[in-house]
Amino acid sequence: MSESGSQEAANESGSSTKQASIPPVGNKVTVVLGSQWGDEGKGKVVDLLAQDADMVCRCQGGNNAGHTVVVDSVEYDFHLLPSGIINPKATAFIGNGVVIHLPGLFEEAEKNAHKGKGLTDWEKRLIISDRAHIVFDFHQAVDGVQEQQRQEQAGKNLGTTKKGIGPVYSAKAARSGLRICDLLADFTQFSERYKALANQYKSMYPTLEIDIEGELAKLKECMEKIKPMVRDGVHFMYEALHGPPKKILVEGANAALLDIDFGTYPFVTSSNCTVGGVCTGLGMPPQNVGDVYGVVKAYTTRVGIGAFPSEQNNDIGELLQSRGKEVGVTTGRKRRCGWLDLVLIKYAHMINGFTAVALTKLDILDVLPEIKVGVAYKVNKQEIPHFPANQEVLQLVEVQYVTLPGWESDTSAARSFDELPENAQKYVRFIEEHLGVPVKWIGVGQSRESMIQLF
Ligand code: GDP
Ligand code: IMO
Ligand code: MG
Repeated sequence: MSESGSQEAANESGSSTKQASIPPVGNKVTVVLGSQWGDEGKGKVVDLLAQDADMVCRCQGGNNAGHTVVVDSVEYDFHLLPSGIINPKATAFIGNGVVIHLPGLFEEAEKNAHKGKGLTDWEKRLIISDRAHIVFDFHQAVDGVQEQQRQEQAGKNLGTTKKGIGPVYSAKAARSGLRICDLLADFTQFSERYKALANQYKSMYPTLEIDIEGELAKLKECMEKIKPMVRDGVHFMYEALHGPPKKILVEGANAALLDIDFGTYPFVTSSNCTVGGVCTGLGMPPQNVGDVYGVVKAYTTRVGIGAFPSEQNNDIGELLQSRGKEVGVTTGRKRRCGWLDLVLIKYAHMINGFTAVALTKLDILDVLPEIKVGVAYKVNKQEIPHFPANQEVLQLVEVQYVTLPGWESDTSAARSFDELPENAQKYVRFIEEHLGVPVKWIGVGQSRESMIQLF
């Protein structure tokens, strides 16, 4: 074998054939994913892991996401920026799978930059893929009009965040979307394509008001600001993976049950929020995926419309909502609440292959005398073997619960597993055993410190 690692083998005729050298796999990325219907506390888990990360990435979704991070009692809200950008040493990367509303991005950065210790030099640390699609104001307006039409025509909307997510991913799939590389290439050509797209929507939705010149002027301003941040995302990622050792973190947005393929379709978002979205949304091979951490809230919440088998439309649901301060970061809507449903988390695990779980908001359950956990589904009195694809079936599900004793004491000061009350420990162990995935962290409060690490 040569020093470079390539192999030379003698063939039968005696000549030597050079076999291709196998490149090293390179750095692995650590992935944090939502395992329910969103708002599990991904932002907080990312913040924890990002403290010694070199690079933090977003790979899908847009500013429909809302990730709250609390540091030194200061609350930061992230929508498009990776939450780990709080670490002043980390490079933040927005991959090609993300859809970007540029004025929204700057607004978010400015808002957070003026809080607490701010976001030191964020403009120099933010890298944006040239292949990412742009969300325009009219995508957001179309999102609103489509919701209204769904309500009028079918009596039911989807309950979207109205951030233009559906329309922009639809345009991407229809191949009429515009990307960051188009904005930077030739503004005249970009403007023409922008106008064509705007007019296409106007002909579909005649009541739509689009300020074409106004938005183009705003986009020109944004173009100047983002120019130094834009890179060929594939090369950037390749160099990060194959350069010197680096700790790279990927922050999933939305969640498994909102995934366009695996979620509770059609009541889902428009991107892949499961592990496949990491590769397609950053431009990297699967062998570079390392640990995949599933964030699991100790109970279940859902914003917007759609079946929710373990929902509690009663005092329990109200208690979880108020104790958990379950209000959407992006839309301000109250989140629907219910018991932990392990059927759907097992399903999310089948897709994502979680290497460990971060169990958040255990403290919210502190006051309950008993706690139910969904472990199986029945439809028409028959147990069903899988999480159903069909929403009509999911609506019919009767969740089979196991009832566990509560601990009725304050866990918020616990900093080790042993400091948790015995019944809280049993709750965690039950989840672990049922899923067959170890729990690595337990959240007992909003702050960075309120996280127990188990191993
Ligand atoms: P994300 O979308 O998954 O990042 O989650 P959100 O930020 O939308 O919602 C989670 C909320 O729960 C935020 O307000 C967090 O600060 C808060 N949170 C996260 N972990 C914990 C925890 O362990 N206990 C409590 N009480 N709050 C938490
Ligand atoms: P994070 O990252 C909770 C939901 C919306 C709606 C559906 C479609 O904070 O966990 P969209 O605007 O994406 O077309 O809306 O998806 N949804 C979320 N719910 N957390 C999120 O993100 C969500 N992102 C989308 O409420 O029901
Ligand atoms: Mg959220």
